[in-house]
Amino acid sequence: MTRQNKINWPYEFPGAYWLDDQEESVVLDVLRNGSLFRYYGLGTPKHVDRFEERAREFYGRKYALALNSGTGALITAMAALDVGPGCEVILPAFLWVATVGAVVESNAIPVICEVDDSFSMDPADLEKKITSRTKLIVPIHMAGSPCDMNAILAVAKKHDIPVLEDCAQCNGGEFGGKKVGTFGQIGIFSLQLNKNMTCGEGGLLITDDERLYHKSFAAHDLGMIRKDGRLAPAPDYAQAWGQGRRMTELAGAVAAVQITKLPKILAGLRASKRRIREALKGTKGLGFRRLNDPAGDTGPFLILVLENEAKAVAALTAMKEAGLHNVFHVADYGLHIYSNIPSLVEKTPLSSAGNPWRLAENQESDHDYAKGACPNSDALFARSILLPIPAKLTKEQETQAVEIVKQAVEKA
Ligand SMILES: Cc1ncc(COP(=O)(O)O)c(C=O)c1O
Repeated sequence: MTRQNKINWPYEFPGAYWLDDQEESVVLDVLRNGSLFRYYGLGTPKHVDRFEERAREFYGRKYALALNSGTGALITAMAALDVGPGCEVILPAFLWVATVGAVVESNAIPVICEVDDSFSMDPADLEKKITSRTKLIVPIHMAGSPCDMNAILAVAKKHDIPVLEDCAQCNGGEFGGKKVGTFGQIGIFSLQLNKNMTCGEGGLLITDDERLYHKSFAAHDLGMIRKDGRLAPAPDYAQAWGQGRRMTELAGAVAAVQITKLPKILAGLRASKRRIREALKGTKGLGFRRLNDPAGDTGPFLILVLENEAKAVAALTAMKEAGLHNVFHVADYGLHIYSNIPSLVEKTPLSSAGNPWRLAENQESDHDYAKGACPNSDALFARSILLPIPAKLTKEQETQAVEIVKQAVEKA
């Protein structure tokens, strides 16, 4: 590939490419009405309520709670599910720092389980990691694609352990025709800029369980519930210390529009990814991530699996030289890999009390997080490359990308 035909490869901010005058007009509505807070203002706030209403309909769940971030949604959900000292929470080796951080913030101990060739929680290793202290299982639908929820739920049910689905990277995805986030007791989403739909920063929690909804509501707000927007006493089981994680009207306004565009955004991502993957099929030495449900994949990432680490590194270098700048060696994909998170590997405490690692209640949970803790996952990450598929690619960009990847893999 010569310098002059270097590809112009956009960044992967799916929802941002779809912002238009619809989002503009609702944001102006918030500003003109002076109603930036969801419960009162100079005018009548309505956008966060509207977003939650649309979310209930879109996911088909009884309750939807908008929050200020996906991280906030995780911490709130764990509070609602009673995660605390003495608890272990199982997460996959391919994750995001915020998910494991939410466990630590809850003063519980993260337990990392292997991923299989789908790059999501390996149900067989999940079962091996269960102990009498396991309080929660957190499958993460990573890099756009759903976990095998049948196998994970079978293990969870057998051991009677609740499931919190982290759907931050797979909004709108499905497994067996059912939306991710609707399998576990609670599902959470992030609306940060890199996600399938966005309002810059934001989160969402969905559940069918009224008690969990009340507990989440109280935890995310002021420790009480609200009736018609006014604080009201919580039922005994839900009274809590509030975390101040409400969504703003500005964010809610954008989110309420973006959720109506999500099917269109996903259709574009899926079509691009399908064309690129099809065109790459048959390239010597190239394999792909196994998809648990190809129809339910949301499309923002393609994971390439090579024969060994040296070939993956060589192919990655060639792709970058040809202008595919934002591609990643999965092993070095920052805080998405358990052993790359310094505060996890070093068990950095939350405070000088040494919590959670040094709490008396956690002394039986002794886990190591350095590379080698999940050897099968480490080996898979070492030979894999993650290629983000930006929204609204032109056919020319797709064709160029295919050529670059083919040449890079064949020469590696
Ligand atoms: C898997 C996963 N979980 C949780 C989060 C946290 O979401 P937020 O950035 O909205 O706090 C992210 C964000 O990147 C994520 O990728």
